[in-house]
Amino acid sequence: MKKGTECVQGSYNPKNGDARVLPLYQSTTFVYDTAEQLAFLFDSLKSGHIYSRISNPTVAAFEEKIAMLEGGIGAMACASGMSATMFAVLTVATAGDNILSLSTIYGGTYNLFSTTLPKLGINVRFVTPDMTDEQIDVLVDDRTKMLFGETIANPSIQVLDFERFSKISKKYGIPFAVDNTLATPILVRPFEHGANIIIHSTTKYIDGHASCVGGVVIDGGNFKWEGNPRFTDFCTPDPSYHGTIYIEEGGAAAYILKARMQFMRDIGANMSPFNAYLTNLGSETLELRMERHSKNALAVAKMLEKHPKVEWVRYPGLENDKYHEMGQKYFKGGFSGMIAVGIKGGKENAAKFMENLKLLKIVTHIADTRSCVLHPATTTHRQLSDQDLIDCGISSSLVRLSIGIEDVDDIIADIENSLATL
Ligand SMILES: Cc1ncc(COP(=O)(O)O)c(C=O)c1O
Repeated sequence: MKKGTECVQGSYNPKNGDARVLPLYQSTTFVYDTAEQLAFLFDSLKSGHIYSRISNPTVAAFEEKIAMLEGGIGAMACASGMSATMFAVLTVATAGDNILSLSTIYGGTYNLFSTTLPKLGINVRFVTPDMTDEQIDVLVDDRTKMLFGETIANPSIQVLDFERFSKISKKYGIPFAVDNTLATPILVRPFEHGANIIIHSTTKYIDGHASCVGGVVIDGGNFKWEGNPRFTDFCTPDPSYHGTIYIEEGGAAAYILKARMQFMRDIGANMSPFNAYLTNLGSETLELRMERHSKNALAVAKMLEKHPKVEWVRYPGLENDKYHEMGQKYFKGGFSGMIAVGIKGGKENAAKFMENLKLLKIVTHIADTRSCVLHPATTTHRQLSDQDLIDCGISSSLVRLSIGIEDVDDIIADIENSLATL
């Protein structure tokens, strides 16, 4: 199937007389005839559902669709993008370990990495995109377990150099994890560019309607855990799950099995069946929406580029953008709906510009059908120090625009009217 068909029909194959639409299994638990059948399921979670913290038919169908769209071999849906990122890391790293992360990432993830994970004994060593290989080499040791980056950095709208960073992760034998939230599998497929693990905040484009917070971790099945001295815990019995050896039980899907058995089971933060139902419904139009978001955003970026009240614009679809060449290498069919713009006159004019918009609303959200706007330095990223903001690529004049799927003439008119008031 092509991606547009996968979005609509995906993993749900109704049989004779079944519901046409993926049913909502709003149930915590599932019935079995014999104790033996249930005991068997505890040995092998792959063959049925026990309890909705661990798996659920509605959630599983959604997971399968997203894995399909990304070209992965398994997925685990979570309560939020943040919990998905947390589980993605915990599955490979424990106290005393460290991971590498690009510094140009979403502020919440930056805070998780700089403040919360270190409290659990996992240190995160930040890599700025302009660091040399030699500078990165100094950061790696035998307890380094992952390299993390975002396809399109939120909110600096920088494009990830997949070729360079996948080469670096391979050199050290560590998985390359990519947050593909802002590109979606419609525009970029990170597994085709060397990623081993993909994370999404499904709260954004995948749901697309700003109705459900959610996340997902996807296993590319393309990382060799066995024989790698950094990952002996994938190849030795896990006493917390009656001696399961993940590479034997899960095969190529060892990572996502370990994530579910060790962390979803013990911590929870699963996606609720109702959120999976709604998010799946939203994802049916993902391809259509990404086409329109991209088309609208390009038209807006082109207008902004020429506007006298605008200092700079960052959008990889613009020919003059620093990331245009990189974008052309990895993106297919558009460059998404996210634009970063510097308004002349700094923070004060940025605030005035945002307040004078009518159609575009000021919200702490991005990537849904409705156009919106935010000033990251004073909101989503306000917990960061001045240096952290620089490392994340955020200036005080940066305004983040999330261009929706409304008629582009109305979006442009609203932005032009607001700029005219400055
Ligand atoms: C790129 C990216 N990753 C992860 C997250 C966190 O996701 P959530 O808000 O669903 O926890 C966000 C939230 O804005 C994000 O933009």
